[in-house]
Amino acid sequence: MSDSDEDVQLEARLREQEYFRPPARFVGQANVSDPAVYDRFDEFPDGFEEYAVLLDWDDHWDAVLDASNPPFFRWFTGGRLNASYNCVDRHLADRKNQAALVWEGEHGDRRTLTYRDLYREVNEFAAALRSEGVDEDDVVTVHLPMVPALPITMLACARIGAPHSVVFGGFSASALAERVDDAGSDFVVTIDGYYRRGEFLDHVQKADAAMEETDRDPEVLVWTRHDEVHESVSISDDYTLVSEVLADHERERVEPVSRDAEDPLFLMYTSGTTGKPKGCQHRTGGYLAYAAGTSKYVLDIKPEDTYWCAADIGWITGHSYIVYGPLALGTTSVMYEGAPDFPHKSRIWELAEKYDVDIFHTSPTAVRQFMKWGPEHVEGYDFSFRHMTTVGEPIQPEAWLWYYTHIGREKAVIVDTWWQTETGGHLITNLPALADMKPGSAGLPAPGIDPAIVDDRGEEIDPASGRAGNLVIRKPWPGMLQTVYGDDDRFVSTYWEEFSDTGSDDWRDWNYKAGDGAVHERDGYWRILGRLDDVMNVAGHRLGTMELESAVAEVEDVAEAAVVARDHPEKGEVPEVYVVLREGVEASDEVRGRIVEAVEDEIGKFARPANVAFVDDLPKTRSGKIMRRILENISNDEDLGDTTTLRDPDVPEQIRRQVQGD
Ligand code: PRX
Repeated sequence: MSDSDEDVQLEARLREQEYFRPPARFVGQANVSDPAVYDRFDEFPDGFEEYAVLLDWDDHWDAVLDASNPPFFRWFTGGRLNASYNCVDRHLADRKNQAALVWEGEHGDRRTLTYRDLYREVNEFAAALRSEGVDEDDVVTVHLPMVPALPITMLACARIGAPHSVVFGGFSASALAERVDDAGSDFVVTIDGYYRRGEFLDHVQKADAAMEETDRDPEVLVWTRHDEVHESVSISDDYTLVSEVLADHERERVEPVSRDAEDPLFLMYTSGTTGKPKGCQHRTGGYLAYAAGTSKYVLDIKPEDTYWCAADIGWITGHSYIVYGPLALGTTSVMYEGAPDFPHKSRIWELAEKYDVDIFHTSPTAVRQFMKWGPEHVEGYDFSFRHMTTVGEPIQPEAWLWYYTHIGREKAVIVDTWWQTETGGHLITNLPALADMKPGSAGLPAPGIDPAIVDDRGEEIDPASGRAGNLVIRKPWPGMLQTVYGDDDRFVSTYWEEFSDTGSDDWRDWNYKAGDGAVHERDGYWRILGRLDDVMNVAGHRLGTMELESAVAEVEDVAEAAVVARDHPEKGEVPEVYVVLREGVEASDEVRGRIVEAVEDEIGKFARPANVAFVDDLPKTRSGKIMRRILENISNDEDLGDTTTLRDPDVPEQIRRQVQGD
C-alpha cells in the first residue's frame, strides 16, 4: 500500500472513530495495566507513596504530606535520600555493566557510559567540585549543551547536595548572567564548545560575556568537548579547566550527602508574564519520586529498555525524563549532541535503528518537521518503537496521525503529556495501556491528579461540559515546585492568588493556576488549548512576551514595542515584533537588524523574531494599556475584533494596512 493510500485510510478512521486502541502487544507487557491504580491514588495523599517506594531512602518519611501551610506544601517529611545515589549507585549491584547513557556526537563519535562509568565520573566530578569550594546548598549554574558532561555535572551536584541551575545552552550571555545573579551563584560550569550542523561553536565566549555582565564574581569551571581545548577557542586564565582538577581526583569516591526530602534538588528558570524569569525550585524527595513514578507508569520504562528522549536536558523535559526519571529506574538512555537533520534528514531514524530504541519521546514541533521532510526519510530504517511520547505543545490531529503511522508504524502506543516546568512531571496524560488514544487530546489526569476548569471568576465549569476555561489543579502533588527561588510572594501571586482563598489554611481552598486554557470534553478527556497569559510557545520553548519586549525596548531609536505570537505551521508559534520608532528616525534594515540582534543577545538565537513591523502607533486602551490581542489578530490574518474600547479605534486598521498592504 502506498503512503497516500495509508493516509487516506487512516484519515477516514480518524473521522469515524476518533479513538485508537493501544496495541495488544503493548498492553500485555505494560508496567501498569490494572485500572485499580486510579483508585489507589485516590487515597490522597497516601496514594503517592507508590511512587516514593520506587526510591531508596536513607530515612523513611514520617508523613506523606504536610499541608499545614498552604501553598507551601511539604512532601515525605522527615525522609532523607540522595538523588545521585538513586540514579547511579543503587544500580551497581544488578547492572554495573549496562549502559546508562549512550551518547552520540554530531560527527558520529560515540561514548557509552555504563552505570559503573557513570558512577566513577560522577564521583570524580563531585570530588572536583568540593575541592573547588562548592558546599552543600551552594547553587551551581550549569551552561552546557547535550554532552555527557551535563548529566555528570547535575548528578555530581546532587551528590554533594548543591542545587544545580541548568541554563539551556542556547541561552545568551545576558540570560546566563541574569540567572547567575538571581540564584546568587558562585560557580558556573561550562564547556569550550560543541558541534551544531557541522560547525564547532565556541560556547565559553558566552560565559566570558556573562562574566562582564554579572554582579557577582563566580568561579568558572570549563569542560572540554575533546580531550584538549579546541584550537579555535581561547580560555581565560581566570577559569579552571575541569580536566586539570579531575587529574587530582582520579578514582576518588564521594559519599552521597543525605538530603532532607524537602531540600532543593535544582532550580529551573522559566518565562512568565513579567520580564524577569522565575527560578522554579524543586525539592529532592517529592520531585524524584514523581519523576521516577511517571517515567515508570506513563513512559512505561523498564531497565532493559533503550529509551530516547530527543529533548534538551537544558529544559525541564530533559531534567525529568532524560536524567532523573529514567536513571532512577536504571534504564539505558540515548543522548544526541546535534541537529536532527545533520548531516541528513534521516539522522534520528539512523540512530533509532543503530541503538534499537524501544521508547521515543519528542515534541510536536519535531513531528511537524519530520512530516514536512516526508516519510521517505523514515522508510527503510529498521527500528520498532513500542511507545512514543509528545510533550510541550498541543499536537494537531494530522501531525499525531503522521507520527502514529510513519514513525510508530501503527504498532506503538502514543501518550500526549501535558505538564510544565513548575509541575516537575506529567499531570494530564493517559496511562498508555489503560485508555484509548485520541489525537489532539492529552487524555485523562495522571493518577492522583485532580484538575478542574474554572471561569475567570474562579467558578468551576461543570465537569465534562466541553466548555473552555482556566485549567487549575486542586490537590497538591509531589512533583510541584516548592517556591520561586528567593521570592515566596511571587510564588503565591503567580500560581495561587487568582483562584484560591488565600486567607485559608485549609489546602482544599488552594487551587494551582496553570496559565493554560483547557476543555474537559464530554468523554472525560482533557484537551489543552494553550497559554492564556503572555507566554508563547516557540518550537516547544517557552518565551515570555515581556522578556522579548524589554529586549526590543532597550534598542536605541525604539520608542515603543509590542511582541505577539503568530501561528506557524512547524514551530507552533513565532514572535512578531511591532515597533514605534522615535521621532525623526526612519525605518530601515539597519534598525531592524539591531532589534533582532538585541533579542538574540538578551535571550538567545532561538527567540529570534520572525518579523519586525514598523508602525506609527500601537493599539491602546483609554488607560494606555497595549492591546496585544488586536496585534495578534493582525499577525494571524484574523478579524480585528472589538476595537471600540480603544483610545484611537482607527489605529488597528492603519497598522493592518501598514503591515499587510491595502
Ligand atoms: O502551554 C502548555 C504547554 O507548555 C507549557 C509549559 O511549558 P514548559 O514549562 O516549558 O514545559 C514544557 C514541557 C513540559 C504549558 O503551560 N504544553 C506542555 N505540554 C503540552 C502543552 N500544551 C499542549 N499539550 C501538551 N501536551
